[in-house]
Amino acid sequence: MHDIFDVKNKIVLITGSTSGLGLAFAEGLAERGAIVVLNGRNNEKLNEIVLKMKAKHFNVHGFAFDITDNQSVKDSVSSILNTLGGIDILVNNAGINIRAPLHEFDDDDWDKVIGINLTGTYKVSKAVAPHMIENQGGKIINIGSMQSELGRPTITPYAASKGGVKMLTKGMAVEWAKYNIQVNAIGPGYFKTELTKPLYEDPEFNSWLCQRTPSNRWGDPSELLGALLFLASDASNYVNGHMLYVDGGLLASV
Ligand SMILES: NC(=O)c1ccc[n+]([C@@H]2O[C@H](COP(=O)([O-])OP(=O)(O)OC[C@H]3O[C@@H](n4cnc5c(N)ncnc54)[C@H](OP(=O)(O)O)[C@@H]3O)[C@@H](O)[C@H]2O)c1
Repeated sequence: MHDIFDVKNKIVLITGSTSGLGLAFAEGLAERGAIVVLNGRNNEKLNEIVLKMKAKHFNVHGFAFDITDNQSVKDSVSSILNTLGGIDILVNNAGINIRAPLHEFDDDDWDKVIGINLTGTYKVSKAVAPHMIENQGGKIINIGSMQSELGRPTITPYAASKGGVKMLTKGMAVEWAKYNIQVNAIGPGYFKTELTKPLYEDPEFNSWLCQRTPSNRWGDPSELLGALLFLASDASNYVNGHMLYVDGGLLASV
């Protein structure tokens, strides 16, 4: 019987996969037989992770590049295509947050947040899309957030970037559906990673979040894998432009 969630031998590029959710995605897909390209800006950290995963007999490769650097993105995507022969699935996961009240927000920090979270997603997708178009197929999965829908004090630039990711997802889906490319997004709730360290280390935030979330707890990165596998596999071949929230019910509740 054909396993509609099968990702075996699929070539997957995951940006920002040297820590947190991206690393969990990389491990989850590699465990299921995918050929995974890991990425981050720090070459040393990347090589260490690639070696550790290779020791587990995972089929992984590392390509260090900054998703905001257009030339580096283009060169790296070309090298991946030359080395591995294709990219079947792109996960636009790399992201940052800088927290400060909006009226005091540093303009360079605004550019950094938008440049990585939104423009970086556009740049990597634009570099990979011609290959998927030529191949007449592919899956692009963008990583949004609760802030694709909701504001929260001190993270307005992040919310603007993630709201942008939601609309970029829809736009790319509409433009590229005719080439059999499905572009969808995952909107994670709150998961403990480097990015959310200032939040889970704050007892007041912790207690607010658990009360605010119907499931009453933080998510574990492994709990995003089901959504990822769905959007990365044949199971979602007629799903396009969709934002799949994995949030313990947070968005369903006031
Ligand atoms: N954790 C959550 O609860 C949560 C919730 C909603 C959405 N998200 C989203 O999920 C994604 C991953 O977040 P995370 O929590 O896993 O964060 P994280 O642990 O801080 O990991 C971020 C990753 O992105 C890489 N990165 C950052 N800037 C980059 C750039 N310019 N080019 C290439 N790689 C870059 C980092 O590596 P280097 O620094 O070495 O480059 C790292 O591997 C983000 O898009 C975030 O907005 C997270």
